[in-house]
Amino acid sequence: MAKKIGIVGGGVVGGGVYEILTSKFPHVCTVQSVAVRDLSKPRAWASAGTKFVDRWEAVVEDPEVEVVVEVMGGTTTAKECVFRALELGKAVVTANKALLAEYTDEVVGKAKGPLGFEAAVCGGIPIIATLQQHLAGDEISSVSGIMNGTTNFMLSKMESSNVDYGDVLKEAQELGFAEADPTADVEGHDVRAKIALLAKLAFGTTVSVEAIPTLGISRIQAVDFDYAKLLGATIRLLGTARKDGESLSVYVAPHVVPATHPAGFASATGPTNVVSIDSKQLGVASLRGAGAGRYPTARSIVADVLRVCAGATVPPFPDPNPNLTLTSDYASRFY
Ligand code: NDP
Ligand code: HSE
Repeated sequence: MAKKIGIVGGGVVGGGVYEILTSKFPHVCTVQSVAVRDLSKPRAWASAGTKFVDRWEAVVEDPEVEVVVEVMGGTTTAKECVFRALELGKAVVTANKALLAEYTDEVVGKAKGPLGFEAAVCGGIPIIATLQQHLAGDEISSVSGIMNGTTNFMLSKMESSNVDYGDVLKEAQELGFAEADPTADVEGHDVRAKIALLAKLAFGTTVSVEAIPTLGISRIQAVDFDYAKLLGATIRLLGTARKDGESLSVYVAPHVVPATHPAGFASATGPTNVVSIDSKQLGVASLRGAGAGRYPTARSIVADVLRVCAGATVPPFPDPNPNLTLTSDYASRFY
């Protein structure tokens, strides 16, 4: 029997999730209701008869809703919503990296049922499943890459033409890549949350976001690209988590990356994300694709919903490694 899904948030991502689920998977699940803030806003993606509500509780407390998809964002109301859904034993699928990174242990502690968060890191790229499942038997030494579509869109535009920082940020917002408050993108806070989650998946260590040295792109100017070009390089914002013996360093900063970078960081333009993973058995491997935007992100959510509906329960994170110590000796580790 089709499972009943409740969606909290009907914006860029929520609208895409609704469209894909209702058009492609009506035999697997039905969308019971969608919570939004403003009931009067037109939603072109919604079919006639869609039940909109303006309180998340109306979705989460509905006894018929088995799977809650949280795509409202933020760490206040979204926290109440996700925590309540978990307490009720519902399956939760969320794209909310800010919430997951700030409350990782609490969320995991409360999750009685499945918890999916593929969309929370790098939008459409299956980086969570790769670390959670495919590399579970390997030993990872580093995870590093471009993890923010907005800033990569901005940097690659600044690199190719003499564009105004404000105009190009506005364009990224209009395309639906940016966070509700784009400061999170440009100051590196979004990547900081993402790399905290990837560090937890790769190494088991819960890394507090406050402990991650973070520098965004707001001070980068067009002329910086001219200097980088003289070096046969360009500039990209990278998040990195690297294990060296029993030390773990995690940091976010713009890097000068060579045009010939083996993982293709320099050639990633627009909202493209690229994550490079170094592990003992596989060696260096990378994943590349759309890191933001309605459909790439919605498809990651839908993949989680389908897994949950099929009864899959993969533990969200590996066991902690008690021997690993977080170090702030990061600067010398920049590329
Ligand atoms: P939007 O701002 O487009 O959508 C947010 C939605 O949540 C809106 O429909 C809004 O309602 C609704 N909402 C906000 N507050 C409430 C509330 N208190 N009660 C009920 N509904 C509420 O955000 P996105 O879709 O872009 O992002 C959603 C989440 O997905 C965020 O966590 C973001 O970090 C994450 N994400 C986004 C990606 C992207 O490319 N956009 C990619 C990967 C992850 P209303 O429409 O009425 O204002
Ligand atoms: N604002 C984020 C980005 C959304 O631009 O990458 C995807 O997480």
